[in-house]
Amino acid sequence: MDRCVGMSDSQRETVIFTNNKRLSGPAIAEHTIAMMMSIARGLPAYSRAQVKSEWDDSLSSAIRFGEVKDKTMLVVGLGGIGTEIAWRAHGLGMRIIATRNSSRRGPDYVDYVGLADELNKLAGEADVIVNALPLTAKTTGVFNKAFFDAAKPGAMFLSVGRGKSTVTKDLIAALESGQIYGAGLDVTDPEPLPADSPLWQMPRVVITPHSSAAGIDSLRRMATIAVENLRRYANGERMLNIVDINAGY
Ligand SMILES: NC(=O)c1ccc[n+]([C@@H]2O[C@H](COP(=O)([O-])OP(=O)(O)OC[C@H]3O[C@@H](n4cnc5c(N)ncnc54)[C@H](OP(=O)(O)O)[C@@H]3O)[C@@H](O)[C@H]2O)c1
Repeated sequence: MDRCVGMSDSQRETVIFTNNKRLSGPAIAEHTIAMMMSIARGLPAYSRAQVKSEWDDSLSSAIRFGEVKDKTMLVVGLGGIGTEIAWRAHGLGMRIIATRNSSRRGPDYVDYVGLADELNKLAGEADVIVNALPLTAKTTGVFNKAFFDAAKPGAMFLSVGRGKSTVTKDLIAALESGQIYGAGLDVTDPEPLPADSPLWQMPRVVITPHSSAAGIDSLRRMATIAVENLRRYANGERMLNIVDINAGY
């Protein structure tokens, strides 16, 4: 929906928008867990050594995050994607807290669901923070200096929602100071991330090019919904995954 910024008000009023919400949840959740475990176990450094055919057993001394079991994950945006991430992280023995926009309800494996204005307070409790937000006026730039300052020192930041929710220079500063231990970034601002961004060379940063939804299973679900929506549209029935224009997602 954030890509429809050029539409006029009358176009917005007369067109029914549907989106792919929830459909990429499983793939993105597996990708998010993969980034978390990769950073926790120091795999980015081993990948760099492997490219040079180096057996560098000194790298293990840089693994300081500890085990994820019993750590707390904050899922920011407990929607289709966030819920799938939360379920998997809970299965790894993590405590899950989360935020939503419109409700405090969540599945039983989520310990606490707060609202948007609790973000910085909850950040102080979390060892792993996940951005699974849609991009709206309210979510633009929320992962900023104030947020990173409020985070628990040494927390990990994972971002799979939209890049513009994060103020890139503030994330870089938080990584440089060690306030943030490492970051897994499937989305960045800007995209593509420029070759001279310091993020590329940071030792505990994993970057993927907005590709966490990739895979045949996501595509199959999208095709199923598209066909079903076409059928519903032709029959004058209510379509699935209708976007709330006012909320922006
Ligand atoms: N990396 C990728 O390749 C990729 C692929 C697909 C999607 N995405 C991004 O991921 C976003 C989420 O997708 P989804 O399928 O999970 O959508 P979704 O099911 O619509 O979930 C969005 C969730 O965000 C919550 N939310 C909205 N504004 C919030 C705020 N200010 N603070 C806290 N929570 C807020 C909503 O709360 P309520 O439940 O209370 O409404 C909802 O739970 C998409 O909008 C898209 O931007 C990225």
